[in-house]
Amino acid sequence: MLGTSAGNHHHPPMLQRATLCLVSVIAALLTATTFFRVELLHHLLWAKGPERNNSLDSCPYGHFRLTGMKDCLSWLSCETIRSEVTVTKLMGRGAVKQVFLAHWKGHQVTLSRLTVSEFSNDFFHGLEMLKGLQSVYVVKLLGYCEGDKTILTEYHPFGSLINVNSILEQENHRGFNTWEVRFRLAVEYAMFLHFLHTSPLGPRVMCDSNDLGKTLSQYLLTTDLHVVANDLDALPLVNRSAGLLIKCGARQLWGDFVAPEQLWPFGDDLPFSDDLMPPYDEKTDIWKIPDVTDFLLGQVEGSDVLRLHLFQLHRDCKRTMPQQRPTALRVVQTYKAVYTSLTQELDLYSGTVHDL
Ligand SMILES: Nc1ncnc2c1ncn2[C@@H]1O[C@H](COP(=O)(O)OP(=O)(O)O)[C@@H](O)[C@H]1O
Ligand SMILES: [Mg+2]
Repeated sequence: MLGTSAGNHHHPPMLQRATLCLVSVIAALLTATTFFRVELLHHLLWAKGPERNNSLDSCPYGHFRLTGMKDCLSWLSCETIRSEVTVTKLMGRGAVKQVFLAHWKGHQVTLSRLTVSEFSNDFFHGLEMLKGLQSVYVVKLLGYCEGDKTILTEYHPFGSLINVNSILEQENHRGFNTWEVRFRLAVEYAMFLHFLHTSPLGPRVMCDSNDLGKTLSQYLLTTDLHVVANDLDALPLVNRSAGLLIKCGARQLWGDFVAPEQLWPFGDDLPFSDDLMPPYDEKTDIWKIPDVTDFLLGQVEGSDVLRLHLFQLHRDCKRTMPQQRPTALRVVQTYKAVYTSLTQELDLYSGTVHDL
């Protein structure tokens, strides 16, 4: 017996060898298919991201093109805005601007107008930032009129990121109400912060973000479910080489949403004074990421598993010492790595493809 089995071991009969061969081929095929499906899914999810839009409708600086326009046009002037843009209705209103839905040559557009002259510095700062930061991460500028204190931008009917839940829960969007789509919004939000912290206008901080609602209201949700930053009225510059840090306004801030270094550090005994308040840097944006991402993930199948995978990273974002928090780039990289490993895991276990 022993002799026979030893002999079989060294010289398996044809059938056994063929079976072994077949099993290896099937295993290799399965691995390859899984790999390609994951790669395809990854491509689908990220290729629909900001990079793709960029190559499709990029125009030279100072120009724009809306869907359906063949050529790039230069930003509209005061005269053109006055004569060709018709305001339809008030859509939104923040501290600085009144935001109107308007029409221009058959396109729906957005006209923002300064509300009170007290905020005119913020308004013009916002305009400069919009001009200087035009990219896939920022709402498209179509024109402006400094004299009339108006800015014309692309209209996004889904409105601000506050509407994410109500939009994705609509019957016709249910198919998109997945952890993958929601997580991509969070990745794009983090990508914008990375862009802002290393921007062509120097490292900038998203200051108009003292609570979750306020923060979400500064970003828009596009109809193809991407995130663009819209309100750039408060982006102070961190000039590290000159030793210049920033402060988000001159008033005292409260609560858990803002970073600990944004709170008055000297207790109740000493009344708040802006002169004594120590400045800080862009790591305040990192502190806020877990709260924004948590909101964006919502309560759908898979979002709690994802939260578990993000636990350590988000704990690092909430470190008291700003310099111990990760950079926005590291957040983006970790988010992408978590996304890839989770889709692979799910794909292997369930055999399903999580289509967009
Ligand atoms: N281009 C746009 N498309 C759709 N909604 C917009 C657009 N721009 C602004 N809004 C709406 O108006 C609100 C206020 O706009 P925002 O630029 O943040 O003004 P403020 O500077 O006064 O805060 C936004 O939160 C959003 O709901
Ligand atoms: Mg705003």
